[in-house]
Formats: sequence, C-alpha cells, structure tokens
Amino acid sequence: MTRQDDMLRTAKEVQLGNYAPAPFVLTHGRGRRVTDASGREYLDLSAGISVLSVGHSHPTLSSAIGEQAARLMHVSNIFYNDRAIELADAICARTAFDKVYFSNSGSEANEAMLKLARRYHHERGDEKRVRFVSTVNSFHGRTMGSLSLTGQPKYHEGMKPLIEGVRFIEYNDPRALAAAVDDETAAVILEPIQAEGGIIVGTQEFLEGARRICDERGALLLLDEIQTGYGRTGKFLAQEHYGVVPDACSLAKGIGGGFPLGAMAVVDRVAGGLPLGSHASTFGGNPLACAAGLAVLHILDEEGLVENARVLGEYLAGALAELDERLDATNGTRGLGLLQGLVLADDVDPGATLKAVHAAGLLLTLAGGNVVRISPSLNVTRDELEEGLAILERVLIEAPRKP
Ligand SMILES: Cc1ncc(COP(=O)(O)O)c(C=O)c1O
Repeated sequence: MTRQDDMLRTAKEVQLGNYAPAPFVLTHGRGRRVTDASGREYLDLSAGISVLSVGHSHPTLSSAIGEQAARLMHVSNIFYNDRAIELADAICARTAFDKVYFSNSGSEANEAMLKLARRYHHERGDEKRVRFVSTVNSFHGRTMGSLSLTGQPKYHEGMKPLIEGVRFIEYNDPRALAAAVDDETAAVILEPIQAEGGIIVGTQEFLEGARRICDERGALLLLDEIQTGYGRTGKFLAQEHYGVVPDACSLAKGIGGGFPLGAMAVVDRVAGGLPLGSHASTFGGNPLACAAGLAVLHILDEEGLVENARVLGEYLAGALAELDERLDATNGTRGLGLLQGLVLADDVDPGATLKAVHAAGLLLTLAGGNVVRISPSLNVTRDELEEGLAILERVLIEAPRKP
C-alpha cells in the first residue's frame, strides 16, 4: 500500500463523512501547482474555491505569516493589536466603508451582519424590524443564522428549526423584492453574483433596485462579497461594477489568501448597530490572520492583480464561450472576471465529469450542481489558463453522460 493509500484509509476512519474529497491527498502547493502524496502534480484553477487570491504559498504571504508568528500571534480583544488596526484601515481606504469587524470565516462575517441588522433597528427603538429577505438559490454559509438565509433547501434538510422570519424571493427579480420588503424587514441580503448557486450574475436593475427599495422602506442592504470580493471580478469589490454601496458587506475567502480570515465592513451610519458588548469573537482580528490579510493587499497592489483579474477574466470568458461553441457537452457560460462558469448540458453527469477533470490533472469545482467553476488565483497567467482549458476540453469531448 502506498503512503497515499494509507492516508486515504486513515482519512475514512478518522474524518467525518460530511465531505467527499477527491481520492488523493494534497501535500504541497506553489502558485497554481499542487502535488499529492504520490508526487503527482495538478494544475489548480480552483484556488481552493476562490480563496487563494495570490496562489499557493506566495513567498511574500508565507514570510509575512512566518514573521508575524514569531512576533505576535494572538492577543484577546481586550487589547488592540497593530495588524488589525492596519488591515481595517487599509480596507476602509479601498472601499466605501468606514469601519471593519473581523471574523474567522465567511459564515461568521454573515452572522455579524445579521446581528448588526437586527440590533441596529433595536437601538433605534424599531423592535418589529427583525425579518430578512434573501434569494432563492443563494449561499450565505452553514452556521444556523447564515444557513437560515441560504436559499437552497437541500442545506436545510434535518437542520430545522432555523431562524424565523426569512423570506426568499427570486434572484434578479426587482418586483419580487419590492413586494417582499416591508416595515418588518431588518435587512435584505444579496450576493452580487450567486456563486455557489451556479455563477449567476446580478443585473444592474436588481442591485440598484435593491438599494433604492431598502432606502425607501428603511431596511438595510447587506451584500455578501465573500466569493466576489477582493479583486475576483476585476474590481476590488463586485459592487463597484454596479455603483451600489450596501450598508454592510461581508468578506472572507480571498481576504486572507488561504489564512482563515473574514470581515464585515460597514458604513458609519449603521456602525452603532453593534454597540459595546453586543458581539465578539475570540480569534476575530487576530494579528496573525490580519498580517496575512495585509500581505495579500500588498501583493494585489505590487503585482497589479485586480487588473490582471479583469484582463484575464475577459480572456477566460471569451475562451470559454469559444469552447462552449465547439462542444456539445456544454450549454453556455456565465461569470465576471475570474469567477467563470461553464454550464454542462442536461445529459452530462456533473459528478463523473468533475472526477474526470481531476483525474486529468486539473483542479476545478462545481457550482450550482451542473456548472464547472473556474476561479483561479488572481495571479494566474494566460499560459496556465490555456493549459487548463485544453485539459478541460479534452475531458469534455468525452464527457461522461448520465446513466
Ligand atoms: C457567498 C458566500 N457566502 C458565504 C460563504 C460561507 O463562507 P465560509 O465557508 O467561510 O463560512 C460562502 C462559501 O462558499 C460563499 O460563497
């Protein structure tokens, strides 16, 4: 038995069965290349599901983490730390937001936004504003609050009762949104692109309409930019494509470049929504995570990666559209910047196709059940994209069909 087989057997024994990972064990990564325990190399155009904004083990990020680990790893939130202050300042400087709260994950950032929304209205004496409006097919996380706002019933199975008072409307339907928001709505939560839902890009009318409706009716607008933020779509935040500023915005995934880090950024007007003592996290704003966050921003600037995401995102969208024309196993493309999806035809087996892609040495993920998601790190090169697309095409020419 090889070392890798041995590890796979142990994994089945000691790890919970809530995931179904591919049958190899990754041990090393650099840039877009990862290696498994048998020494086989893969091209990673998934970036750990939009997380590795600067690629695997970028030397600047790795040394920033190492240096910070040797200097100051953790202090409680009873004390300030320099890294959290610097990172909050840097995020505010780049966005329309005025204040930042740090978490360790996307779900936690969304939890903070939901609590902020309810408490904001409570602080203003508007006790009836406790309800939320979310969208069908959305994904906001797996903790009870964020799960309750996630518009995919399969994730709710066996987890009820969830938090009360959530209404789901069709995505990109401004009329449905207008009909759903009333004087009991604390907030509307939206992704600018429904990423896990299948890379469905929000329309200008929908996002602009959401801002207007929330303003008219006194509800907060929360944008979940956990997957779309930090340069992924070719702008620092996807909301910039729309010119829409929400009251609060959640960030995670790419913000730490692989180090667990999340954030909620808010405008001044709602910052009092989480007053002293109303919310906290032991690890949130920890100097080690924030040093990683600062290094990621440094690399984005130094290497012009938001612009690279825009330029190569356009190239990728065009190349995928051409691929789609050549193949009968696909049924269209959609996306923005370096968050792109290739929709599989109805008779193609998505799970088996993904397995074949991995077996061919390319790491990608599925979104929305039948969409092949290409979400590489922002410092991907055109050559790497071409290489990945060539592998993908070879697999899709012989795409496994549904039984
Ligand atoms: C848009 C969106 N929101 C929230 C989450 C949850 O983030 P996390 O898994 O870090 O809790 C995800 C993760 O895929 C996401 O894509």
